[in-house]
Amino acid sequence: MHPKSPSDSLTILTDLVLPSETNPLNNLFGGELLARMDRAASITAQRHSRRVAVTASVNHVAFNRAIPLGSVVTIEAKVSRSFKSSMEIYLDVWIEDRETGIKSKANEAIYTFVAVDDTGSPVEVPPVIPETELEKERFNAALRRKQLSLVLAGKMNPHEATELKALFS
Ligand SMILES: CC(C)(COP(=O)(O)OP(=O)(O)OC[C@H]1O[C@@H](n2cnc3c(N)ncnc32)[C@H](O)[C@@H]1OP(=O)(O)O)[C@@H](O)C(=O)NCCC(=O)NCCS
Repeated sequence: MHPKSPSDSLTILTDLVLPSETNPLNNLFGGELLARMDRAASITAQRHSRRVAVTASVNHVAFNRAIPLGSVVTIEAKVSRSFKSSMEIYLDVWIEDRETGIKSKANEAIYTFVAVDDTGSPVEVPPVIPETELEKERFNAALRRKQLSLVLAGKMNPHEATELKALFS
């Protein structure tokens, strides 16, 4: 299959935080951000694979900063690495200062999507060729994260997670 770069799958989703999407502290509700990231990641996975893609796992979410009511939130999603049928999607979440327009990083997350056929069976996806330093860093760490996700899901024996184990030795 013809390889693709992460920028081929880039999805940028910009939206406001409205009152119905906040918690009692008037900050964006975590589940609302998860849903927005899932949508962005889904589009990204479909752009990379040109197939229907389903969420297999939410591997990591860091709610580092609260996002206040009225914020303009931008989610940037890219495929960081693909395997056979699965794709790791890396999401960066930014908020924009109303007066200066300067964007600052609020959160990040990593999702795994799987490309499927009409019957829901996994199908092969194109490989990823990372270009920037950050894309290469994320690509190189993705196999460890896949192994961790599979071990936690009970789908891989920890003894087989060689790249993951190498982190601790
Ligand atoms: C995701 C799904 C298609 C995987 O199907 P499966 O029969 O388990 O298929 P496999 O075991 O062959 O796994 C397919 C790929 O997913 C990966 N995968 C499965 N579970 C995973 C997990 N928890 N974390 C990371 N990768 C996972 C496998 O490693 C494999 O990757 P590869 O082909 O790139 O090597 C299937 O579980 C499914 O349809 N789940 C429901 C998806 C859904 O509805 N999501 C929305 C939830 S509301």
